[in-house]
Amino acid sequence: MQIGIIGLGYVGLPLAVAFAEAGCEVVGLDVDAGKVEALNNHRSYVEDVPSSALEPLGARLQATGDYAELAGCDAVVLCVPTPLSDSREPDLTYLLESAQALAQVLRSGQLVVLESTTYPGTTRDRLLPILEASGLTAGSDFHLAFSPERIDPGRTDYTVKTTPKLVGGVTAASTERARELYEQICDTVVVLSSPEAAELSKLLENIFRSVNIALVNELSQLCDRLGIDVWEVVEAASTKPFGFMRFDPGPGMGGHCLPVDPFYLAFRARQLDFYPEFIELAGKVNQAQPGFCVERIERALNGVRKPVNGSRILVLGVSYKGGVGDVRESPALKIVGRLQDLGAEVSYHDSFVPELPGHGLASVELEDGLRGADVVAIVTAHPDVDYEAVVAQAPLVIDFRGITRTIDADNLIRL
Ligand SMILES: NC(=O)c1ccc[n+]([C@@H]2O[C@H](COP(=O)([O-])OP(=O)(O)OC[C@H]3O[C@@H](n4cnc5c(N)ncnc54)[C@H](O)[C@@H]3O)[C@@H](O)[C@H]2O)c1
Repeated sequence: MQIGIIGLGYVGLPLAVAFAEAGCEVVGLDVDAGKVEALNNHRSYVEDVPSSALEPLGARLQATGDYAELAGCDAVVLCVPTPLSDSREPDLTYLLESAQALAQVLRSGQLVVLESTTYPGTTRDRLLPILEASGLTAGSDFHLAFSPERIDPGRTDYTVKTTPKLVGGVTAASTERARELYEQICDTVVVLSSPEAAELSKLLENIFRSVNIALVNELSQLCDRLGIDVWEVVEAASTKPFGFMRFDPGPGMGGHCLPVDPFYLAFRARQLDFYPEFIELAGKVNQAQPGFCVERIERALNGVRKPVNGSRILVLGVSYKGGVGDVRESPALKIVGRLQDLGAEVSYHDSFVPELPGHGLASVELEDGLRGADVVAIVTAHPDVDYEAVVAQAPLVIDFRGITRTIDADNLIRL
């Protein structure tokens, strides 16, 4: 079977590798010539895909920038970005552009699957008409389905293979084709009645996380006023074996998905004169959390009679979560920017993020950063840092991730 993957990023590349490992011929397509070249030289740029996994695939995974090379594929999967515009509305530009290019080469018998996260109705109302402009009819000449990507970058306990895959086609035949496709690489395929149900299922998963993260983040602010350790409370509640699911507070919510996806549903809801309260409220609370962290840093410095202005602040970890180098929507960016605005001398250490050009910073060696720092702020906890050594060496440490929970020290403050 020959499979085309459009968009070779965090989602598309692991998927392309999974299909190639299952014995399929994979044509990976990306508009980024650098990525195409890297892959054709067996060099990966996604943490979850080691370069060593590419070489054994040989010619089974070939990258290109030319849509014409998709003409021979049995199935084509779209994994392009679906970000928000400046006005926080869905930006479907990448999706619509890639669909238009695909329509030029679409041929009878092909299956097209959209994996990009989006609002219910996108597959049928936006993608289908563009593909049908080819002259072919969806559901008979070609097949069309939605199947959300559920990948969690950096996670090793659940993979493409072991995470159940949802599929919903525009017709029963399209659903069946999508089921057959994913059964080659996934242990469990869950069939839904429509692409709309599959689109909304993905949004529910992410909104569930966003709302629960907002709940514990808000609780962390209340605990600060109450003088109660929020981590102790979260851990205690987590001992309940039923009816509670643990979420940890932190410096805010980042990544390409959680801060973005809920607004896709809010947009669609507004078109129907429906105003989803939970989504907006969770977004508001999570976006305010980096500001609360800056206030905590100000208070920590105040406690040792230092103003933020002129203080040397070392930020540990700037990616949106531990173990990955993705800084998209990372709360650390807001924290660093705000501290710089306040006149602090900010440096950062993050072995996953070599530089932050937007802030004029490059990662410093941990030892160099610790030397002379007035305060160290743990914003993202990476696995390669010895936090006990950090607390032992720094005059003052403030931890927004609870990674130092087992350490008891006078110079240590936690969220
Ligand atoms: N990253 C995640 O953890 C994750 C998880 C689940 C779902 N998703 C969803 O998957 C989709 C892709 O996300 P991602 O993180 O892989 O994005 P990404 O930015 O890492 O990768 C997208 C790729 O698409 C390419 N591209 C853009 N326009 C193109 C076009 N017209 N033709 C061909 N290639 C094009 C880009 O160059 C890029 O390499 C999004 O809808 C996202 O919401 C992401």
